[in-house]
Amino acid sequence: MEIKNFAVIGCGTMGKGIIQVAATSGFNVYGIDTFPKAIESAQNSIEKGIMKWVEKGKISEEEGKKAINSICYSEDLSSLKVADFVVEAIVEKEEEKKKLFKELDGITRDDVILASNTSSISITTLGKQTKKPDKVIGMHFMNPVPLMSLVEIIKGYDTSQETVKFVIELAKKMGKVPVEAKDSPGFISNRVLMPMINEAIFCLYEGIGTKEDIDTVMKLGMNHPMGPLALADLIGLDVCLDILNVLYEGFKDPK
Ligand code: NAI
Repeated sequence: MEIKNFAVIGCGTMGKGIIQVAATSGFNVYGIDTFPKAIESAQNSIEKGIMKWVEKGKISEEEGKKAINSICYSEDLSSLKVADFVVEAIVEKEEEKKKLFKELDGITRDDVILASNTSSISITTLGKQTKKPDKVIGMHFMNPVPLMSLVEIIKGYDTSQETVKFVIELAKKMGKVPVEAKDSPGFISNRVLMPMINEAIFCLYEGIGTKEDIDTVMKLGMNHPMGPLALADLIGLDVCLDILNVLYEGFKDPK
């Protein structure tokens, strides 16, 4: 299987980063979003991001221009008939993602892998919305995508080993380091990260320290490059809440 047309659904914080990295990895990229303003803002930030790579000498000017021209934006999912690979980065709401996977199943070719950038939602559940759960997988990039090397790869109950192998190779081709995690709420990354962020929020709420103090303790004391409260803002508090709700549903642990 060879990928020529790489599709990204959702052009928000994560989608735009994935589009940028896919374009600079040499794919034709389709960026889809239902919200025209999101497309406009993504296009702006992707072009700036690519030109920054040119300035830094990571890619040549010609490669940068080629990458920018290889991206095509649309509000219409039906343009994905030509897609050879799809990764979705829409909102972290199970019902929305289930609906999208059902739709994608009807639009894309049978051999096309459907990946989710979900932070926490069950890949097995998403796969079950399709006739090809063996081709549904988690491909969880980190924020900001152009800078962060990790990609968590999540195999759902029905995901085939062939699909896992293919996506691991794809992540490497995009310059990333893939790590496999089991399909459990929050996988590895957010099962560990989100309770820490939540606890930092409790520290602030209970007046244990100021927001600056809490972040400084974790930066200087634990050698974290960024404090948990600043990181929560970078991720988006709405996304953090959605992930914490998935963890609570899965583990019923109030912490
Ligand atoms: P975001 O809110 O910035 O972007 C989501 C985009 O999806 C919006 O532009 C919205 O218009 C669009 N959208 C919503 N429903 C759609 C649909 N049915 N079809 C097409 N487009 C649709 O969200 P963000 O932060 O980019 O998160 C996206 C996904 O990535 C979530 O699953 C999240 O858990 C995951 N993620 C987020 C990280 C973060 O740091 N924000 C890190 C890693 C994963």
